[in-house]
Amino acid sequence: MIKVEENVSLKPYNTFGIGVNAKYLCRVTSVDQLVDLLQSPVFKQEQHYILGSGSNVLFTGDFDGLIIKDELKGIETVQENDSQITVKVSAGENWHEFVMHSVLNDWGGVENLSLIPGTVGAAPMQNIGAYGIEIKNLIENVDAVELSTGILKTFSNEQCAFGYRESVFKKELAKKYFISSVTLSLSKKNHQLNTTYGAIQETLKEMKVTLPTIQTVSNAVINIRKSKLPDPIVIGNAGSFFKNPTIALEQYKELQKSNATIPGYPTDNQSIKVPAGWLIEQCGWKGKRINNVGVHPQQALVLVNYGNGNGDEILSLSKKIQADVLEKFHIVLTPEVNIL
Ligand code: EPU
Repeated sequence: MIKVEENVSLKPYNTFGIGVNAKYLCRVTSVDQLVDLLQSPVFKQEQHYILGSGSNVLFTGDFDGLIIKDELKGIETVQENDSQITVKVSAGENWHEFVMHSVLNDWGGVENLSLIPGTVGAAPMQNIGAYGIEIKNLIENVDAVELSTGILKTFSNEQCAFGYRESVFKKELAKKYFISSVTLSLSKKNHQLNTTYGAIQETLKEMKVTLPTIQTVSNAVINIRKSKLPDPIVIGNAGSFFKNPTIALEQYKELQKSNATIPGYPTDNQSIKVPAGWLIEQCGWKGKRINNVGVHPQQALVLVNYGNGNGDEILSLSKKIQADVLEKFHIVLTPEVNIL
């Protein structure tokens, strides 16, 4: 049985805390329920949007359609030996709770991705990443239901076509599938810890850790994120609002002439990824506030809602930032957040 709620406030379901309403909302707790919903008139007649925990979305107005709220739960062991475990995690599980479950069990791989907001199902969608690790490094496959047929398909890691904050589910197959579970392989011994990221090394030192473990790396990441990124429960935000832009090496060299400190990370021989946070800070936006919304004082890549901001205020702030970065650096910033 499916239950469709009408005229539902989305304020608790988006981490920006924007107070808009959805015409319809359906909480899906199993694949069977989803398949029933796909055959229902409300699905056939209305536009829809699949919502995990709303940590990467900006609502700029009421949603005139059906919100499908992913609430599929469960963690299942698919395969296990002395050194590896493969787990299938339902899409509606909270990502950080799954990371904590892994850390507690001493399963290695996801510790650098501690405290990332969102659901497990949203993680492959945008190939979440932090501190030198992307989820694509750990994914075996992704199960997803085709919305037009209700057929459950398994996508191999390769078929997911992962890129920087990208996957096939955001590109060619955008809006065509509902991710129902994600299968990941994690280590049980000889863990390959990734502590190369500068901030992790510094934090481990401050924590007086000489031999890092999954637990201490996870704690270091949690400490870094808590110090730089606002807690959405306290201040509305959706993490990085923009992607870090990739520019041509020649343009980077040109910019270095007048901006000696410009950071950059080569992505290949010809391109450099530049931290958008740095560009935004150089334009003077860090810590600025316009009425109800602003740019976070500790991390300029994060736009925040101080309380009663609406989606249009955030969007208009983001456009001002894009215009300034374009004017000063001739670099186009692209939102990482889905704008509806
Ligand atoms: N920087 C500044 N000013 C700022 C912010 C950053 O100058 O206000 C510069 C600094 O030079 C810093 C560099 O930018 O060394 C990188 O900053 P940071 O380590 O905070 O990472 P980021 O590139 O801004 C990315 C991800 C984050 C992820 C961190 C850590 C994107 C769009 N964002 O941010 O992901 O947590 O790396 O790995 O790739 C998210 O996607 O929502 C997110 C928070």
